[in-house]
Amino acid sequence: MSKLSIRAARQPDAIGQQATLQGWVRTRRDSKGGFSFLELNDGSCLANIQVIADADLPNYESEIKHLSAGCSVTIIGEIKESGGKGQATEMQAAEVIVHGWSDPEAYPLQKKRHSMEKLREWAHLRPRTNTIGAVMRVRNQICRLIHDFFQENEFLYIQTPIITASDCEGAGEMFRVTTIDPGNVPTKQDGSIDFEQDFFDRPSYLTVSGQLEGEIYATALGKVYTFGPTFRAENSHTSRHLAEFWMIEPEMAFYELEDNMRLAEQFLKRIVNEVRENCQEDIEFFQKRIDDSVEATLDSVASQEFQRLSYTDAIALLENSGEKFEYPISWGADLQAEHERFLTEKHFKSPVILYDYPATIKPFYMRVNDDPKTVRAMDVLVPRVGEIIGGSQREDRLDVLESRMADQGLDAKEYWWYLDLRRFGTVPHSGFGLGLERMVQFVTGMANIRDVIPFPRTPGNAEF
Ligand code: 4AD
Ligand code: MG
Repeated sequence: MSKLSIRAARQPDAIGQQATLQGWVRTRRDSKGGFSFLELNDGSCLANIQVIADADLPNYESEIKHLSAGCSVTIIGEIKESGGKGQATEMQAAEVIVHGWSDPEAYPLQKKRHSMEKLREWAHLRPRTNTIGAVMRVRNQICRLIHDFFQENEFLYIQTPIITASDCEGAGEMFRVTTIDPGNVPTKQDGSIDFEQDFFDRPSYLTVSGQLEGEIYATALGKVYTFGPTFRAENSHTSRHLAEFWMIEPEMAFYELEDNMRLAEQFLKRIVNEVRENCQEDIEFFQKRIDDSVEATLDSVASQEFQRLSYTDAIALLENSGEKFEYPISWGADLQAEHERFLTEKHFKSPVILYDYPATIKPFYMRVNDDPKTVRAMDVLVPRVGEIIGGSQREDRLDVLESRMADQGLDAKEYWWYLDLRRFGTVPHSGFGLGLERMVQFVTGMANIRDVIPFPRTPGNAEF
């Protein structure tokens, strides 16, 4: 007798099979005719399977009639054609084995609907809800598609370090990694902390980005990508920021900014198209229950060309829009969420790639334009989520890079290895970073980024 996932057992070709199903009861309903309906879910798909348990089963009175939401069971029986709406199959139980009870008085998910905020307090139970289950299946698909896309395009998957001494984004938002005992800090003669006595002999941090190390491998192996956790100690309490998030960072030798933009667009389109194909049931759920613009937005991304415009043109457009913004915008300032939303949702009604940003608001590594107040940066903005990708062509000229670092107060000595890439066989190269969680938010329509990662890390939240 084969174990079947509920996903497989719901397919018409399973009809007639003897099978074992295992999962958690969602509901039980007793019929007057002397049998019970159990709705069983195992996470393999959104839908439950209906199980019919007759009163003549030996444990019907003693156990089956006491099953409630959250109880775990193994059910052996036959998959039959179902007359019910929305289901091709159901199971006629021959045996019901109860593994674990779940006291209906105490089980928090007994009640049907809880707010997403409430569910965050139960990070250990929320995966049992339809919403989080659907999010995680979509997230899983996206991760698979990311690898497929890059592998098919001859990128090498490189694992960049999580612990590092360099601040890629230069924003000083890093979590420190140390084995120094806070109650017994070694100091130098001038009273400052003696990091030479720390584990790595120098101040070390959790990485904010794998880019700099990605560049090392791209300038040897051509096209690479990293995909790992990144950490930012920014005190943001928004629906788009996490202190720990996953980033996909491709880095390509011999790519200029236009090549980079083209790749980013292809990449996003591919993910959107294939999620649409592979996760139909879950996407329909998001459309119905979470945000009724999800399907239309996904379709428009898949079919429309992304709008491209320079930062300077975008500022002019925003200034002349006649729109009342909470934060006024002018050349030199970073776009706020409201400006991003105006461009993608109201004005263009499509994803937008902004490029050539002011050098003053972007990190040291971006290639300086001839003007020379702008750099070859690009941000991809999408409806609802705003910035989903940040990237650039990298500064490949040693002298320009050195002077940019000096401008930003960075010590060239500490980046000697990064400068070496420009000393020995420098090449034009580019890359970008896609925030995985923002991608999942975009595809699912989930309003808050804390609900698209299994265990969100935000200021004050790291219990489990
Ligand atoms: O724009 P960012 O900071 O770019 C970089 O880190 C570059 N080094 C990437 C590169 O060129 N290789 O971050 C890239 C993306 C953002 O567009 C956003 O999607 C996501 O990472 N991101 C965050 N996601 C969740 N929470 C945060 N605090 C995030 N910060 C950035
Ligand atoms: Mg950015």
